[in-house]
Parts: sequence; structure tokens; C-alpha cells
Amino acid sequence: KPMRLWGGRFESGPADALARLSVSVHFDWRLVPYDLMASRAHARVLNRAGLLTDEELERMIGALDDLETACKTGEFRPTVADEDVHTALERGLLERLGSLGGKLRAGRSRNDQIATDLRLYLRDNVRAIISRLVEVETALMAQAATHADTAAPGMTHLQHAQPVSFGHQLLAHVHAFARDIDRLIDWDKRTAVSPLGSGALAGSSLPLDPVVVAEELGFTSAAPNSMDAVADRDFAAEFLFDAAMIGIHLSRLGEEIVLWASQEFRWIEMDDAYSTGSSIMPQKKNPDVAELARGKSGRLIGNLMSMLTVLKGLPLTYNRDLQEDKEPVFDTVDTLLLVLPAVAGLVSTMRVNTARMSATASDGFALATDLAELLVRKGVAFRDAHEAVGHLVVYCQVNDVDLGEVSDEDLAKVSPHLTPDVRDVLNVPGALAARKAHGGTAPDRVRDQLAALREAVDAQ
Ligand code: ARG
Repeated sequence: KPMRLWGGRFESGPADALARLSVSVHFDWRLVPYDLMASRAHARVLNRAGLLTDEELERMIGALDDLETACKTGEFRPTVADEDVHTALERGLLERLGSLGGKLRAGRSRNDQIATDLRLYLRDNVRAIISRLVEVETALMAQAATHADTAAPGMTHLQHAQPVSFGHQLLAHVHAFARDIDRLIDWDKRTAVSPLGSGALAGSSLPLDPVVVAEELGFTSAAPNSMDAVADRDFAAEFLFDAAMIGIHLSRLGEEIVLWASQEFRWIEMDDAYSTGSSIMPQKKNPDVAELARGKSGRLIGNLMSMLTVLKGLPLTYNRDLQEDKEPVFDTVDTLLLVLPAVAGLVSTMRVNTARMSATASDGFALATDLAELLVRKGVAFRDAHEAVGHLVVYCQVNDVDLGEVSDEDLAKVSPHLTPDVRDVLNVPGALAARKAHGGTAPDRVRDQLAALREAVDAQ
């Protein structure tokens, strides 16, 4: 007869259809280490309250440790009859301790247990995600250090706009990931609250101290309201948002890499180890890592939507709907831990075609703004300068010449503002170096940015 945690008042067992619908052990089994950690803390608090003798506590902890090892080696496994991870582990405890195993359940419920387990699991995994994010940042920063002085065509609307340092562009992605890390660190402050001791919803009449349990589990405080504690999944939804945002940042970087690797751009060449071939076209080298980074963001966004939809309209406190919180969270953790190392590898091994980038940096009259700003420095109103340079661009298009190839006379004919010295600003390195105010693309500013980012990363 399968062992359930709630058999007492039932005459018949559950229908197969219910059992199959209800079971979660096939996915919540990964919470084993956290459930056992919480169980050890709970055992100690029962002992402190005089509900377990010292000798019973010792046997209890021994059995929990033994169970942990048995789970790790695979010697203890959940069966189809175990509803969830809590049920399976109680079975394991009873197998080891007999009736003493049944004492651990006093003063707690699966409702506060699962909320505690999921917080512990996520806090742990978020630390791992942050480490993998730092590796992506590190890869981008290493390339940026090499390419602070590499000019590239800077784009808006995917049209040539103004030349930029390629390092500047790479660091733009680093700033996005740095915000993601900030968000996760901030998320942890709100997640470091222990639900254990809330019981099913109202707390316990037993003299257990949730504050002591919270401390033992590494939380910074115990939940001040037991009803909120078992009903709240904000931490899961917020994590899923932070993760979806990371996914979006990975997707935007992925999209850029797909473009950069194309024949039309030819800005980078991907390393063989991080690109794939075609089963029919022998010449192909495909950016699958970048595409999967882009594609996987879809499920990260979907997981956030699932969670918000489950939570919407739920009355207090615990409802079984909340069991649907775990699969989106687990899938998001797995996805990020899969994608981030691949992206870090792709970025750190890509070779940058600096010659092609620099040669095309001023294509599309990308230095036109520099011309207009020179006229402004000479006292021309920007509106007039913009107009004059606009006419010059049309002249160049019609005559198929570049901005610097127009004769003194023709410059003067286009506009009296266009004196020969305007050609002085028509060079890409000069255009980059001129943007030297805080946040600009001047290579020296890029190096400052890099130093500040490295310091922030090292502080993590
Ligand atoms: N498996 C359940 C979950 O994931 C654990 C809590 C069950 N509580 C209950 N009252 N049925 O939410």
C-alpha cells in the first residue's frame, strides 16, 4: 500500500487519474538537498523545544545524512507511489528510523517546506548563474580590451550612423549583463526570508522558533506573516523576470553575432568549436550558438508568463496551483546554465576582422555629423550646418564620390560654410578620439569604462 502523508481520514486511495495528475516527484526530486537541509534545521528546533531528545536528534540527523548519501548514489530513489519529494523523503526516513521518523513532521507542513526548499534552491542556483554571467562579461571585456582602438561602423536602424570603437559596442553588452547581475543580487535580499515555521498557513502551537531556523538555513530573517509566507511566489516570478531579461540580452547579442558572422558583414569569424556545419552544403559555417541563445529566450519569456498566469487571482493562502511554480523555474535555471557557457565560449574565441571593420567604418557618409559639428565649432547654427552637410551628401551621391573627395570650389558651391579645412575632421580615428566626454566612444574612454567594469566584476 503506497505511503501517503494524508491517509488518515480517507477510506479509499486516490484514483489513478488523480494520482497521475497530482504527482510532482519526477520534477521536484531535484530539491532533495534543500529539503534535507531544512529537515535538519527543523529537527534541531524540535530538539530545542523539547520535542526530540538529544539522543533522538542525533539518530534523526544521522538518518537524514544517510538518506542524503543514498539519494546521491541513487541507492534511494523515488517510486511512482511517492507523490512528491517530501513524501519520498519521509518514506526514506521511516525506513531508517521506524516510528521516530514520524516525529519530524510536527510543526511543519509541506506548504512551508516547499516554499523554503524553492527559495534555498533558487538562492543557490542564482549564485551559479551569476558566476556564468561573469564569464560572459569577462569574454566580452577581453575582446573589448583588444579592440578599444578598432573602428567599426556604428549603427542605428541597422544603417551606418557614426563610426564607433568596436570595444565600445562590446562593452555596451557588458553593461546590460552587469545590470542583470545587480538585479539578481537585489533579488536575493528579498528572497533571503525563511517561510519555515509558518506551517500550513497559521504558524504552529508548538514552541518552535522560526528565527533560529531562518538563521540556520542562511536566511537573513524569518517571514513576519505565515499566510503570506506560504502563498508568496513573488521571488519565483521576480527571478523569472530577471532571467527573461538575461535571455533578452543574450538574444540581442546573439542577433548581432549572427549579423557579424554573415558574408554581408564579415566582421567576425567564429571558431570551429563554436560553429556548426551543414549536412548538404560543404562550405557552411553556421552560428548555431548565437541562434540558440536568441531562440532560448523564447522559453525564458514563456516561463515568466506561465508563473504570472498561475499566480493571478489565487486566493490566500496555499493552493495546489502553486505546484505549477516549479517546472518553469527549473527550466529557466537549466536553460541559463546551458546557454551562458556556450555564449562565453563563442565570444572569447571569435576572431575579429579588424581590417574589414575599419575599412567600412566611414561607409555611408558616417562622418557627416563630424563635419556638421565642426561648422558648429566655427559658429554656424547647427540647423544650418546640418542643411549644408546634407546638401554635400546629395552632391557626393550624385557624383559617386566620398565626402573628402570634393574639390574646394565644389565645396564652396554646395555651401559657403564648407571651407577646405572641413576635410580635417574626415578621418575615422579622429572622429572616435573626438568623442571623449564621459560615456563617449573615444578609445581612452573605452579603456576607462573597461577598468571600472573590471573593478565591479572583481568585487563580486
Ligand atoms: N508538491 C506540493 C507543491 O509543490 C507540495 C505542497 C503540497 N501541499 C499540499 N497541501 N498539498 O506545492
